Amino acid sequence: MTHLKPNNTTSDENFTIFNSPNNNSRKPHTSHTYRKYDIYTGSQSHIESYAKSHTKYIYFDHSATTPVLPEVIEEMNKCFTLYYGNASEPHKPGREAKEILENSRNIIAKSLGAKPEEIVFTSGGTESDNLALFGVAEAYQKKGNHIITSEIEHPAVHMPLKKLARKGFKITYIPVDKYGIVDPQDIKKAITPKTILVSIMHANNIVGTIQPIEEIGKILKEAGIVFHTDAVQSYCTIETNVEKLNVDLLSISGHKIYGPKGVGVLYIRKGTKMMPQILGGGHEKGRRSGTENIPGIAGLAKAVELGQKNLSQKGEKIRILRDYLKKELLRRIDDVSFNGHPTKRLPGNLNFSFKYIEGESIVLRLDDAGIAVSSGSACSSSSLKPSHTLVAMGLSPEDAAGSIRITLGFENTKEEVDYFLDVIPGIVESLRRISPLFKVKGHN
Ligand SMILES: Cc1ncc(COP(=O)(O)O)c(C=O)c1O
Repeated sequence: MTHLKPNNTTSDENFTIFNSPNNNSRKPHTSHTYRKYDIYTGSQSHIESYAKSHTKYIYFDHSATTPVLPEVIEEMNKCFTLYYGNASEPHKPGREAKEILENSRNIIAKSLGAKPEEIVFTSGGTESDNLALFGVAEAYQKKGNHIITSEIEHPAVHMPLKKLARKGFKITYIPVDKYGIVDPQDIKKAITPKTILVSIMHANNIVGTIQPIEEIGKILKEAGIVFHTDAVQSYCTIETNVEKLNVDLLSISGHKIYGPKGVGVLYIRKGTKMMPQILGGGHEKGRRSGTENIPGIAGLAKAVELGQKNLSQKGEKIRILRDYLKKELLRRIDDVSFNGHPTKRLPGNLNFSFKYIEGESIVLRLDDAGIAVSSGSACSSSSLKPSHTLVAMGLSPEDAAGSIRITLGFENTKEEVDYFLDVIPGIVESLRRISPLFKVKGHN
């Protein structure tokens, strides 16, 4: 396999995390050292050294999930080993855990321009979306039964809404334009006296398009309708301030921002009514029961702290790399179209449709070449159905099926992009050579 020079050392001391498993001591682990990911601390050379040591496999699938930052692991490790208490208990270990919980809440609240008491910890983006939709629908059902959403939401929004429809709620799906953008005026027109909730994602997970959330929020504020946005893809990538966005509810996931999987947040604006969906010991002020996942929450807060640093500089670095990749790919390969908006999109997102071939085949060939991209969202890529987002944007089923998504992260390098650009033309050409569609069009 031709490849960027890999560093095959598995015992790289910079990544040694755990002490000997026989160590029963409750003392903090002091032997671990971590390499820093230094776009956060400013040193360019560290980014390069990280990238070199980590490019055994090139990772261009950051919308599916991100690697976990060493600083995050370090923070979590402390909670597993030192601060293992139950945050509901009044003794010292419990108080220590509670302190971590509340510090984490403060960090996340600050990053959103919210109040700490408006932050509810969940098990991830899916649960946050479910809680927002079911919680508001149940709390406001006496007022009305109409909910507005878009055609391109994540299944974590669409599936709960389908369930609510089976229970008698009326759901209006707002279409998008060819770029995947919702027109706020379409939402205004869809409002009825029975509308209780609108859920529109901040940025789309397939084409990265950023929705006019501020404008939609203004309309809904005036109309007195609760507004939820799924910010799983945008948080810590672009600015996500709940006041500027005019939202009442906002979903976050840890593993999309270099934090751990299985932890997330639902921001709930003070005064927004919400029926809890997980009942038990009354944690999170009764809004979401279950012993708090302190390691996950502390890891999430660390990822947020780091993620918020140099947000625009990091975005700019990724954007430059992305635009270079786009320009070169379109120059080197014929019959490729670019999906989504040219500028109103997340800095790392690219989505292309390759004529005559399937995105899934490209993904597998790139995987053989040591590069991870996606042909859909991670949650739905097990099905070979074309992405509903691309179909909603008006792509033909063939173009939707021929698409791949490339999502870059701050640790990606030009060297990695150049390697990708070197291998992709050959992959596309070899797949087209065996494609019946290509032959039908008169190519040999
Ligand atoms: C837009 C969006 N919402 C929600 C989710 C679900 O988040 P989680 O994986 O944390 O459950 C995802 C994950 O892909 C997503 O992209």
